[in-house]
Amino acid sequence: MPKAAAAVPKADAARAKALRAAIKHADHAYYVLDRPTISDAEYDALFRELQALETAHPALRTRDSPTQRVGGAPQAGFAPVRHAVRMLSIRTETKTSAEAAFDFDARIRRELGLDEAAPPVAYMAELKFDGLAINVRYEEGRLAVVSTRGDGDVGEDVTRNIATIHVIPQRLATRRPPDVLDVRGEVYMTRADFAALNARQRDEGARLFINPRNTAAGAVRQLDPAMTAKRPLHFFAYGIGEVRGWDVPDTQHGLLETLASFGLPVDDHRRRLHGGAELAKFYEHVAAIRDELSFDIDGVVYKVDRLALQRELGFVSREPRWAVAHKFPAEEMPTRLLDIGVQVGRTGAITPIARLEPVFVGGVTVTNATLHNEDEVRRKDVRIGDTVVVRRAGDVIPEVVRVVLEQRPADAREFVMPTTCPECGSAIERLPDEAIARCTGGLVCPAQRKQSLRHFASRHAMDIEGLGEKLVEQLVDSGRVKTPADVYTLTIDDLAALERMAEKSAANVVAAIDKSRGTTLARFIYALGIRHVGEATARDLADHFGALDPLLEATGDELVAVRDVGPVLAESIRDFFAEPHNRAVIDALRQRGVRWQEGPAKRAANGPLTGKTFVLTGTLPALSRDEAKAMLEAAGATVTGSVSKKTDYVVAGADAGSKLAKAEELGIAVLDEAAMRALIGGAHDDQT
Ligand code: IVH
Repeated sequence: MPKAAAAVPKADAARAKALRAAIKHADHAYYVLDRPTISDAEYDALFRELQALETAHPALRTRDSPTQRVGGAPQAGFAPVRHAVRMLSIRTETKTSAEAAFDFDARIRRELGLDEAAPPVAYMAELKFDGLAINVRYEEGRLAVVSTRGDGDVGEDVTRNIATIHVIPQRLATRRPPDVLDVRGEVYMTRADFAALNARQRDEGARLFINPRNTAAGAVRQLDPAMTAKRPLHFFAYGIGEVRGWDVPDTQHGLLETLASFGLPVDDHRRRLHGGAELAKFYEHVAAIRDELSFDIDGVVYKVDRLALQRELGFVSREPRWAVAHKFPAEEMPTRLLDIGVQVGRTGAITPIARLEPVFVGGVTVTNATLHNEDEVRRKDVRIGDTVVVRRAGDVIPEVVRVVLEQRPADAREFVMPTTCPECGSAIERLPDEAIARCTGGLVCPAQRKQSLRHFASRHAMDIEGLGEKLVEQLVDSGRVKTPADVYTLTIDDLAALERMAEKSAANVVAAIDKSRGTTLARFIYALGIRHVGEATARDLADHFGALDPLLEATGDELVAVRDVGPVLAESIRDFFAEPHNRAVIDALRQRGVRWQEGPAKRAANGPLTGKTFVLTGTLPALSRDEAKAMLEAAGATVTGSVSKKTDYVVAGADAGSKLAKAEELGIAVLDEAAMRALIGGAHDDQT
């Protein structure tokens, strides 16, 4: 008889060994070094592959295989804590359609033996916080021990670290606390705190953290509580463990309310709902607001509300039958980078684009992701052939967030920025102090033409319905449309002659073009596609100048006087209008009937400092430059960027340089912040 092991193909044995090593390496990086090397999805893939191999060839299942271990074992350095009531995990529903909520409800009804006539079951629907589960034990109302989940039976004593989480009360806010109360919940870090922490790391040249969850989990499991204290942590309570000397409320919603009344943080998005349809609606609602939350979640949790029913339903192995975690589509997934192409934007900006092996992420299949610019490609060290992690959250454009270096193939290639535009052959140029490379082809470049036309016609610009990507493509390629002004000469016949364009839809597009003639000044300015001028700036410019002509003639100083307009933006606006070609397009647009209401300029408001021109320089003690500017403008002053004879006052802070010197040379009054405030205040007094 051959030995069982002999039946295992060599390649499989070698693969299993490699997988065991890779998983152990990842575990060590995750649990001990607090520096994960691969994403959860990659980890799961490795784990499942090993499980499958071991199922096919049981001889490969070694005793020390990672598949034989349950959860993370307590690490050296923390005292073990045995949980009086086991800390469970929940069954996960990975179907990311809302319908899965109906399946859960149907299963609960079946298991409770309810027939169709029985009323809907009451549930508690909660967010599934993406953090680290902990148990906070209160004895006679005082915080006693805090522990991690560990393997569910034994966790680690992290009490000293949790003392740094201020939202976890040291004492329960009740006169008659339970003798013992184990509160269970999730430790997490807000997205803003995470971003601030990483910004600091970047400034200090330290390594970046991967996501809020890993960072929070790492912070809780720091051996040095001083390190934990540096990472702001939060907590939400969602359940209980052992309880002594307390009448437990009879529902989950009652329980959460009571915990909240004890001063424990409980999330406000929770809802008490009835039946599958309401759960499905909750799932969709939370998915829609997910990106607006201040913290990460990875799904929602449904729990049968009545604790008596929970007891009746009981458990299967380590999971309760009365709850399910309904996951959202993962926002980050690994995939292979097949190539890096470039895309030409409307201002000629060249964006490197990752061509990907199709991957399902954030609820859609993604094949392209942005790499932003050349420096980002280098900073992230992205190479063609790499496995990369792609992120798509909400409606945001998918991006490559990082490389899985461990999986870099030997023949991975570096990206080389092309020297000529792939669309028009013009030179690609990158100015020394700019991050962006640009095609120098201007409107000769069909890609730039197409992008600027699409922008011109887009919903928040001229809003020309029907003038979409496909149509713009045909109109530019055929040479029929070169500038936005040409759009207003299109006839039904022109359009009907194009491929896949019926007479009826041609007529609709022409009607939409006609309708777009009546617009607003703000929309028109935005539609021009001036570099750096977004919707908000376009509105500010329209409000400030009231009409187009003064904007066309505005000097740099006059532009800097507009709210939120700085020197770079002012220069970009001036450059745009200085270009005869752009003037010609604007003239043609007006001639062809594009019109808007003009009004008085709003800056001439009757403030106490109206008519006075200020220049700000140096660092003020209390106010930021923008705040000082806003205060002055609110008082009617004009704030400009450079000192001239027309300047009335220069407000100077620390490290003021040439502008201060110039002011002194011209004999202009120089104020510090206090004097400026006094002037504004004093001027107010004059008015009253
Ligand atoms: S209840 C017996 N509720 O998700 C049920 N868990 O396996 C115990 N989680 O590790 C869990 N938000 O840390 C529950 N609202 C919530 C939750 C939640 C996040 C975590 C929990 C656990 C995992 C589920």
